[in-house]
Amino acid sequence: MTPLPTSIDQTTELLRSGGYVADRSLSTALYLALTMKRPLFLEGEAGVGKTEIAKVLAKTLGRDLIRLQCYEGLDVSAAVYEWNYPRQIMGIRLAEAAGKGSDAAQSIYTEDYLIKRPLLQALEKHAGGPPVLLIDELDRTDEPFEAFLLEVLSDFQVTIPELGTVKADAPPIVIVTSNRTREIHDALKRRCLYHWVDYPNVDRERAILKSKAPNVGDKLGAQIVSFVQNLRGMELFKPPGIAETIDWAEALMALNAKELDASTVDATLGVVLKYQDDIARVRGDVAANTVAAARNGS
Ligand SMILES: Nc1ncnc2c1ncn2[C@@H]1O[C@H](COP(=O)(O)OP(=O)(O)O)[C@@H](O)[C@H]1O
Ligand SMILES: [Mg+2]
Repeated sequence: MTPLPTSIDQTTELLRSGGYVADRSLSTALYLALTMKRPLFLEGEAGVGKTEIAKVLAKTLGRDLIRLQCYEGLDVSAAVYEWNYPRQIMGIRLAEAAGKGSDAAQSIYTEDYLIKRPLLQALEKHAGGPPVLLIDELDRTDEPFEAFLLEVLSDFQVTIPELGTVKADAPPIVIVTSNRTREIHDALKRRCLYHWVDYPNVDRERAILKSKAPNVGDKLGAQIVSFVQNLRGMELFKPPGIAETIDWAEALMALNAKELDASTVDATLGVVLKYQDDIARVRGDVAANTVAAARNGS
């Protein structure tokens, strides 16, 4: 079991060893969350690296990653547990056939008939130590589920009426993310340490590119980052995230580009921008000017 980092620098190093380039404020928030054993609430635009933090943390600490992907209508049966009805019915039939129908009522409410969903799995004992529980895109769920989650995150226990209470020996490492399509309730935020994950600055985005697409030359890499950062200042409908920067670098390498040029950029804008309105706005003059700026190193 890899020990938890004991300083902010070690936290940065740990993430780095998993290919994740964090700035100091993120490393600080994560270090404190790990040390204080509190959930970390990460909010930010899509594609800034929120989900990746949980994945890298699990990988570098050698913990299991348990992911609860949130969506509208997510309920307890999908998030915590569900009884396996078909199996229970089968169990009753078998008991009846064996002439023990009267015992069946109790024996079908045992762990054998329980389907464990992510939140329950996260409370169980794991060989490699408490797992990383990623509660991803919480803003997609509705408020009743949030209230329920608050309870789970307060006590790290859930009660199954037919079975009793399941409580974690040691709390999991909890990362909650939100793309902020709506505000998350204060009560839940209060349980957590909060960190706003911003788009990276030029230096950090270049470092990310070096880590994720090491074969991109320095010159092309610098131009890509400059171009993408300029796009983010244009109030587009959907500004490019870091994944788009990495994808674009790989696309340009596949085309053997050594530098940005206006026609290649126009032809590959669909790797960076995913809405036709945004592409139409950038293609042509705007792209040409932004390429020129990138080539001039601004
Ligand atoms: N700081 C970072 N260091 C390394 N890679 C990163 C970083 N931030 C984002 N990425 C890359 O960008 C991709 C998208 O990040 P992701 O975590 O899915 O974004 P979000 O969850 O915020 O929408 C990741 O798969 C990862 O490859
Ligand atoms: Mg995500």
